[in-house]
Amino acid sequence: MKVLGIETSCDETGTAVYDSSDGLLADCLFSQAESHAIFGGVVPELASRDHVRKLVPLVRQTMEQAELNFSDLDGVAYTLGPGLAGSLLVGSTFGRALAYSLGIPSLGVHHMEGHLLAPFLEPETEIHMPFLGLLVSGGHTLLVYAKEVGNYVILGESRDDAVGEAFDKVAKMLGLGYPGGPAIEKIAQYGDPDMYSFPRPMTDRPGLDFSFSGLKTAVRNAVVKETRESVQKAAIARAFSDAVIDTLKIKCSRALKETGLKRLVVAGGVSANQALRKNMITECEEMGVGASFPPLRYATDNGAMIAYAGYRRLVRGERDHESTRIRPRWPLNELTSIGSD
Ligand code: KG4
Ligand code: ZN
Repeated sequence: MKVLGIETSCDETGTAVYDSSDGLLADCLFSQAESHAIFGGVVPELASRDHVRKLVPLVRQTMEQAELNFSDLDGVAYTLGPGLAGSLLVGSTFGRALAYSLGIPSLGVHHMEGHLLAPFLEPETEIHMPFLGLLVSGGHTLLVYAKEVGNYVILGESRDDAVGEAFDKVAKMLGLGYPGGPAIEKIAQYGDPDMYSFPRPMTDRPGLDFSFSGLKTAVRNAVVKETRESVQKAAIARAFSDAVIDTLKIKCSRALKETGLKRLVVAGGVSANQALRKNMITECEEMGVGASFPPLRYATDNGAMIAYAGYRRLVRGERDHESTRIRPRWPLNELTSIGSD
């Protein structure tokens, strides 16, 4: 089964073809980061217009790379939500129209399910469900009990900022530009870990929810007091990153103990962070739990994860309904019945 995947939920246009026998046949990505950087964050109207410009050429390029004709495709998967409404409309309209014209099924995929299943794109990794999922992206921070494809119980989530959002905002405070995660990671390596200490929010009470806005304020207070020498910026970035990683680690080990699950999957844009990966691996080793991450290239938004998640559902006979509409807000635990006939 060959599935074309289309991702247009935010500021990346991603297209890919996943083949159930041969794996990923092609994968193309266009990042709009440069156009949004001057505004310090994603401008929704610019994002949707850019998807309109880039999507068709990118799909053509993907089909060429895969050495396929459109008639070779068995299905089209696209991101139905959550995300920016205008951007989602571009991918969903194109995906559904293409599938209709080819007489093949289309299916709207949940963006965060795409992230969660991205580690399965690594051919040699065997990951079995159930597992504990830590989803850390620009819009979401979720701890989920992944029972099977499409069946996710939310154990904890952020009450305010998502982890990636906190990285982006702290980077802005430090004058490091957008997107902030990679910039913070780069500079944090040179920072003295003992110069600052920031709180590990909500770790001193029971529960699996997160909150990152207080941590952000603590960083702002430290920045305001500083003279903005680059060495202090690095130390602040380091202490912020340590606080986030520690918090995630504490909540994950708590969830692993409570559920008895033996595997942790960390996914979403922030899972590209090497310090986070290293810390999670050590923590899981100590607990006798397996740790999995997406291949680095598929940690941040991409079309491959949508093609793969779409394949896992299309193969079960799930399809769009006529009434299927984009879901800019779409809780991950409302998936099971949606899209299935
Ligand atoms: O999953 P993603 O590509 O898009 C959303 O679904 O939101 O995640 C993007 C987020 C951004 O906030 C970005 O700053 C963060 O992931 N990010 C990172 C790193 N790479 C991307 N955060 C920390 N360290 C990184 N290396
Ligand atoms: Zn994402």
